[in-house]
Amino acid sequence: MTAPSPGVGVLVSGSGTNLQALIDAAIPIAAVAANVDGAPALSRVETLAVPVGAFPLERYADRDARDAAMADWLESHGVGLVVCAGYMHLLRPVFLARFPDRVVNVHPALLPSFPGAHAVEDALAAGVTETGATVHLVDGGVDTGRVLRQEAVAVVAGDTPETLHERIKLVEHRLLPAVVKELIAA
Ligand code: GRF
Repeated sequence: MTAPSPGVGVLVSGSGTNLQALIDAAIPIAAVAANVDGAPALSRVETLAVPVGAFPLERYADRDARDAAMADWLESHGVGLVVCAGYMHLLRPVFLARFPDRVVNVHPALLPSFPGAHAVEDALAAGVTETGATVHLVDGGVDTGRVLRQEAVAVVAGDTPETLHERIKLVEHRLLPAVVKELIAA
């Protein structure tokens, strides 16, 4: 059996603070892809010699075609581990089959609690006293893959979605690079 390619591909949609944490931790980033044109996250690799690609859905026949093209592009850049760092689209099975058990995601809640795109708001609305951050494998579901690591964050009086999310992100920025380091060393 051949060993998987060692390069890390990072998928982004938004501001890219988790991408920044990976850069700061000297993770060997082989390529960065976004599902939208002009994602602010992409500017974080402008000064690095890292290939950047944008794969907006409207440029493809459907989601399968987009995800297949993105997988081809990542593989062409030596990616063997995919990190979803604020990537806001579900990956299709056609993509996941290309990187079996080698796609991870960071999520701002203690999964299986509060999956989905509004995890921080949902935790506040539920009145929990703690939520947190989770790094997990990606399967075909919404934040349902096997949990690799998680850490709690207390909800404090007066928290807004913004203040709570900021504290959760500080934890994400520690957990995600640590897990990625372990995965590429394994
Ligand atoms: C993070 O909180 C991540 O858990 C969630 O989206 C947010 C992305 O933040 N999936 P950033 O783009 O890394 O700043």
